[in-house]
Amino acid sequence: AGAVPFHGEHQAGITTPAQDRLHFVAFDVITKDRDRLVAMLQEWTAAAARMTAGKDAGVIGAVDGMPEAPPDDTGEALGLPPSQLTLTVGFGATLFRDAQGRDRFGLAGRRPAALADLPHFAGDALRPEISGGDLCVQACANDPQVAVHAIRNLARIGMGVVSVRWSQLGFGRTSSTSRDQATPRNLFGFKDGTANLKAEDAELLRGHLWVQPDDGTDWMTGGSYLVTRKIRMQIETWDRSSLVEQEQIVGRTKGGGAPLGRRDEFDEPDFAAKGDDGQPVIAGDAHVRLAHPSQNDGARLLRRGYNYVDGSDGLGRLDAGLFFMAYQRDPRRQFVPIQTRLARNDAMNEYLRHVSSGLFACPAGVRDAADWWGRTLF
Ligand code: HEM
Repeated sequence: AGAVPFHGEHQAGITTPAQDRLHFVAFDVITKDRDRLVAMLQEWTAAAARMTAGKDAGVIGAVDGMPEAPPDDTGEALGLPPSQLTLTVGFGATLFRDAQGRDRFGLAGRRPAALADLPHFAGDALRPEISGGDLCVQACANDPQVAVHAIRNLARIGMGVVSVRWSQLGFGRTSSTSRDQATPRNLFGFKDGTANLKAEDAELLRGHLWVQPDDGTDWMTGGSYLVTRKIRMQIETWDRSSLVEQEQIVGRTKGGGAPLGRRDEFDEPDFAAKGDDGQPVIAGDAHVRLAHPSQNDGARLLRRGYNYVDGSDGLGRLDAGLFFMAYQRDPRRQFVPIQTRLARNDAMNEYLRHVSSGLFACPAGVRDAADWWGRTLF
């Protein structure tokens, strides 16, 4: 139930041991006034520091203000502990130049090369109204009410400056980001996060997660790029496929999560191994083979996704899947090549549909009470 420090070298909510709940939101900026945007980001930062410490969003609070005025906190988290709430901010490409090509805030020259638009991938069925966004905030917590409270109050503070473009609730983290955590399961019933980058891998995090001083975008040093993909799962079809087929699609066992042909979850997959029939033990189109660093020039991701169920679709099926989130140093060398390979050949594709996509530049951490979200950019 404790608090995660808000200030630090990197933003919290990336290598922080993945909490159980997510409320993710993407905003469009609706003001043309750069000063108003900066003032809002400063107000957001102060509110985020307070809320992650388990306090009300505003200094006066939900119930101690003037009776005639709307309270500076909405109240539904009163009495709840911080619940490991983290709030992580990111900036989308349209903040730098919008869809009409306008440079609304004089930021066009500040756009990182690594924030290049993602290409179209085979099979994409993206819905623009739930994709993209000028800003994003990822709220993670071990209590869903705490995560929702945080996003709601940021949206309230941002009224007239930003409007909510889309948002997503998630549960049951589908990744472990620390070796202290057991590997959770996704809605296909498989362990997810086994071969993830972990907080303990300092050397790998420098190479694959955090933007380095010589990467070409100074304001992003110490930050990371976030790719979000809402991936609908054809759950009912999956549930009619055999256990053997499911395991061949993933390339790991469903029970323990070991790579096929190996014993333990954390054994390295042996992609050269052949079975008695002369066929590879891990199929050529298995997910873990195609996503593995050995197939992708060594590229790795820090995956931090969540399961979602948005009710049902009116056709007797659950509207469910994986809200995939991955942090990385440069999507052009990490997410893009991996997803290009998966989109072409992954045996899992038969059961998947990518319906939303986002890409955000998440700068380094807020250092102290005088620092604020976006200071290095603006
Ligand atoms: C590994 C499931 C989408 C990248 C895995 C594993 C499972 C899994 C069960 C094995 C356990 C593990 O190491 O975590 C899924 C499902 C997806 C999905 C159900 C869609 C709903 C994606 C996407 C990407 C991705 C879109 C990136 C473009 C990876 C990577 C690994 C992995 C890099 C680790 C491979 C390794 O090093 O062994 N995934 N995944 N996955 N997945 Fe996915």
